Amino acid sequence: MTTTLITGGNKSLGFETARRLKEHGHRVVIGARDPERGQQAAEELGVEWVEVDVTSDESVAAAAKAVRERFGGLDVLVNNAGISGPFAGVDEFDGPSVLAVLDTNTVGVVRTTHAFLPLLRESAAPVVVNVTSGLGSFTVRGDESRIEHSLPTLGYSASKAAVNMITSVYAQFLPELRVNTVDPGYTATDFNGHSGPQTVTEGTDAIVAMATIGADGPTGTFTDRHGAVGW
Ligand SMILES: NC(=O)c1ccc[n+]([C@@H]2O[C@H](COP(=O)([O-])OP(=O)(O)OC[C@H]3O[C@@H](n4cnc5c(N)ncnc54)[C@H](OP(=O)(O)O)[C@@H]3O)[C@@H](O)[C@H]2O)c1
Repeated sequence: MTTTLITGGNKSLGFETARRLKEHGHRVVIGARDPERGQQAAEELGVEWVEVDVTSDESVAAAAKAVRERFGGLDVLVNNAGISGPFAGVDEFDGPSVLAVLDTNTVGVVRTTHAFLPLLRESAAPVVVNVTSGLGSFTVRGDESRIEHSLPTLGYSASKAAVNMITSVYAQFLPELRVNTVDPGYTATDFNGHSGPQTVTEGTDAIVAMATIGADGPTGTFTDRHGAVGW
């Protein structure tokens, strides 16, 4: 059975990814930084949960240990946990506000992947899905017809552009893994005050597609639910 961990799985896109991957027959483990929220979501979904705060080296190390002890290993890691940072004018961004977004969205991906790499390397079909955003794509942000073009998301866009590069480098130097980055698309969740036009099911199409590619799937790609995305 495929064992899958989804960070930030207690709500929104992570929660829906967990629901859908369970339907696909995965043994799903949701990661949650808050034990109460994690336990409640896991009960609702009928899946397992572990405590994991992606901004803490100790927390991700403890989560990797717990997953090994309780489930014997890991096949699929979905790096989904993320924060938006301030919705503000670019002149309002300062060092601490950008650092906080990078810590969660970018360094969090490296922390979690690094901690779970020994488990993934023992899998016959190790897969990593990094949840990025069109806001982190130079191509998408450069397209005046896209909503992403108009948003001054300085820290967030930088954090997700970095996730895309991290994905590309991991894919190149870890050929034994499938590592891909996916844009859910603008989706109604707490993240954006439920302003996005997509449902969470639509928003998880690309995540679920890349979490279920298996050993022969692509690596180093950037897709959304419609297909390839420009970097
Ligand atoms: N919604 C969109 O339109 C959209 C579009 C493109 C990309 N994305 C990306 O999709 C992912 C999920 O977004 P969403 O819309 O589902 O956001 P959301 O509703 O805000 O949920 C975010 C999840 O991440 C968790 N999280 C935040 N910081 C964490 C940390 N330090 N450690 C562990 N978990 C943490 C949250 O936990 P708590 O419940 O404890 O806060 C929550 O479970 C993010 O990476 C986001 O950047 C979203």
